[in-house]
Amino acid sequence: MDNFFIYGAYGYTGRLITDYAIRQGFQPVLGGRNAAKVKALAEVNGLEYYVLEANDKAKWDIVLEDVSLVLNCAGPFALTVKDIVPACIEHGVHYLDITGEIEVFQFIQSQHEIAKEKGIALMPGVGFDVVPTDCLAAQLSNKLPSATHLELAFQGTSGVSRGTALSMARRYHNGGTMRIDGNLVSVPLAHEVKMVHFGEKDRLCVSIPWGDVFTAYYTTGIENIKVFTGISMKTLKSLRLYRKFKAIAKTKLVQWVLQQIIRSKIDGPSAIKRATCVTHIWGKATDSATGKSVEAELITPESYYLTSLTAIESVKRVLKGKFNKGYQTPAMAFGKDFILSFDKVKLNFN
Ligand SMILES: NC(=O)c1ccc[n+]([C@@H]2O[C@H](COP(=O)([O-])OP(=O)(O)OC[C@H]3O[C@@H](n4cnc5c(N)ncnc54)[C@H](OP(=O)(O)O)[C@@H]3O)[C@@H](O)[C@H]2O)c1
Repeated sequence: MDNFFIYGAYGYTGRLITDYAIRQGFQPVLGGRNAAKVKALAEVNGLEYYVLEANDKAKWDIVLEDVSLVLNCAGPFALTVKDIVPACIEHGVHYLDITGEIEVFQFIQSQHEIAKEKGIALMPGVGFDVVPTDCLAAQLSNKLPSATHLELAFQGTSGVSRGTALSMARRYHNGGTMRIDGNLVSVPLAHEVKMVHFGEKDRLCVSIPWGDVFTAYYTTGIENIKVFTGISMKTLKSLRLYRKFKAIAKTKLVQWVLQQIIRSKIDGPSAIKRATCVTHIWGKATDSATGKSVEAELITPESYYLTSLTAIESVKRVLKGKFNKGYQTPAMAFGKDFILSFDKVKLNFN
């Protein structure tokens, strides 16, 4: 049995992934909680489907008898993993997802031992967050194995999807996270800024609680990790203003209003943007004892398009048995050159 289940298949990214999986010759089983949307997507593609909530254990028990891998695309993942991952472990079914949420990586890693005993892969973060940055971290660590500090930054131009904006809005009031001396440390939102040279230009970047703060530690063993993204001065000022209102921002009412605004205003990058935009990723590893450092830049296709490629390639490899048992990052499972196996990806060491 090498069939797999895409949960959240009718979301913006779930659809891109489903379409790409079909183009790759797969016939995934589709799932999600909205009956009309799952049925429509499955029927137009001639695929089997299930309608189920993330916490409907009885239905998951049926689905998980039918497939050997779950690719979870239903986020914010903090709302879906706590039910889905234990069910996958119980049934001995591999679990992959496209999360970028640190708390989700943390929860899934906490299931490592039991998943290892079951002989299954737990691999969150097989999308843009974290495949390219994880591979870049592994490349830098390979060049400078004694590195003690890692900085990563990225700059895209295509915009974000509704699900990404919703996931970010849920955690803004929690501020940022950095890894310091091996520990995850909470810092204020937009805590640090720095200029990063991407492609031809220097760009203003701000620190963000990106998945690599969690994952790159497992991939490289580096104990100090910060991640940044390109930002305009206007957005930086808004984020800093938002810090003052964080107590209000986490109230149910404000969260509800934010969600309504996001749902009505954000659609996700257009097909043209997905086909034409690129993302620049920069990384630097430093050994604080010797002062030695190594820097590199990775250029990739647009992030949502890339997510569909990296997610399905990860599924393919796990189904072929190329994985470690238990929790792992993409670069731990597939190596530092994984990202270089995709078209139009370029890596340059400075
Ligand atoms: N790693 C990466 O680089 C990467 C790339 C793309 C997306 N993502 C993440 O993937 C997630 C989805 O993004 P998207 O752009 O596809 O968003 P989207 O268009 O809003 O789709 C979200 C999907 O998840 C489902 N969902 C949400 N909450 C759920 C819950 N509590 N229970 C069951 N299903 C739920 C939605 O179903 P309903 O419509 O029924 O709510 C929908 O099918 C986001 O968290 C985003 O940040 C990550």
